[in-house]
Amino acid sequence: ENTQLKDIISHAKEYGFVYPSSEIYDGLQAVYDYGAYGVELKNNLKRLWWESMTRLNDNIVGLDSAIFMHPTTWKASGHVDSFNDPMVDNKDSKKRYRADVLIEEKAAALRKEGKEEEAKSLLAAMGKLLDAEDLSGLRDLIINEDITCPISGTANWTDVRQFNLMFSTQVGSVAEDASTIYLRPETAQGIFVNFLNVQKTARMKVPFGIAQIGKAFRNEIVARQFIFRMREFEQMEMQFFVRPGTEMEWYQAWGANRLKWHKALGIPDSHIRTYVHDKLAHYANAAMDIEFEFPFGFKEVEGIHSRTDFDLKNHQEFSKKKQQYFDPEVNQNYIPYVVETSIGADRLFLMVLCNAYTEEEVAGKMRTYLKFHPAIAPVKAAILPLTKKDGLPEKGKEIFDRLKYDFNIVYEEAASIGKRYTRQDLIGTPFCIAVDHQTLEDNTVTIRHRDTTEQERVSIDELHGRLGEATSF
Ligand code: GAP
Repeated sequence: ENTQLKDIISHAKEYGFVYPSSEIYDGLQAVYDYGAYGVELKNNLKRLWWESMTRLNDNIVGLDSAIFMHPTTWKASGHVDSFNDPMVDNKDSKKRYRADVLIEEKAAALRKEGKEEEAKSLLAAMGKLLDAEDLSGLRDLIINEDITCPISGTANWTDVRQFNLMFSTQVGSVAEDASTIYLRPETAQGIFVNFLNVQKTARMKVPFGIAQIGKAFRNEIVARQFIFRMREFEQMEMQFFVRPGTEMEWYQAWGANRLKWHKALGIPDSHIRTYVHDKLAHYANAAMDIEFEFPFGFKEVEGIHSRTDFDLKNHQEFSKKKQQYFDPEVNQNYIPYVVETSIGADRLFLMVLCNAYTEEEVAGKMRTYLKFHPAIAPVKAAILPLTKKDGLPEKGKEIFDRLKYDFNIVYEEAASIGKRYTRQDLIGTPFCIAVDHQTLEDNTVTIRHRDTTEQERVSIDELHGRLGEATSF
């Protein structure tokens, strides 16, 4: 892990954003908890996504479906048969690795040595073997390339086998006929199986969308890079149902719409891009990723997929229930095509955190702050009386009480004003409102701006309006 990511991880922990899960027991790999400021930031991101889907589009409605679903769902979706990673075990260390990741790491090492051509042909060879699902070929490649286990240092590998990424558990008591069910690996299937329920009860006409935010679970073997790849995470997915033949237009439109959304969060053009896939997942006829430049390189944050009628058609086949829509405009029954936008709330959180993390040298001293867009900042403003006496705390609390119903703000009177400013910078609070003796005379306060550290004098009556304006898009 590079140093910038390390700094961000320790900042996130020290200032109440993200902790490793069950840390007192040394943590649980690829599972994390969100602290006081983390949960506010994550909720703000989820709310923003939810509102920009369901409020800004009168043809998108929400859904909250269960994590557990009938096991046949995952047969129909293809996850039971195809949601696999090729894994290989080292016989000495007993450690398990993803075969493709071992090979990719070898290619990266070759690149570092300046052997660009060798790296390229290695990746091309792997691509062919993965396409052909040639597992013994993958093992041969690992052996021929002399890839060793990072723990044991040996190349004593087992066969390569496919491992399914879904977690499973039992429903009902064991005495009964216990049946295996899965923790959903994507929220999308809850939307597909409810497609007709929602269409009929919310009286939607194609084209329309269903948006959902919820937990998803994947037994990721390569779990690294903090909250980038987790075993328990949250997805924000929107399935947009369209007339067959119009899907490419919608796919392009949603790709552009989502890119604009990311930029509105304050992500600079230089750090975000679209990557169009030529290799497609089993359900897609077109796919693009929105990628952000993390400290470890450009990586996927969101996927926009044209899923055809793959899912609805399979659910129709497996459930024997018609999944058709009657389109009065063309006087036809059809299974709609689907364009989906799918983003991980945690991965979005990491993007926003990396983008906000700023270290600046001011007068020979380092200043660290989080420059979140005020609309997503966990705390919008801190009310800080200059001293603990002369009626300043009372005045500060009065201001706090006027603002607290509409904004997440804090009141703090301990420590010097400079220390309190620094503390707010570290959690990314855009405005510090200082209450001083002049406040008692003329009802004005100073607003100190996080990014510039500049201060201005404003009337208390203006605060609500100023905060409202700054914290909306
Ligand atoms: N329904 C389509 C789907 O699930 P995906 O590309 O597998 O597509 C979509 O996942 C998004 O979910 C990703 O772009 C990423 O933001 C997030 N995501 C996927 N796996 C994740 C994981 N293990 N940890 C955190 N986020 C993940």
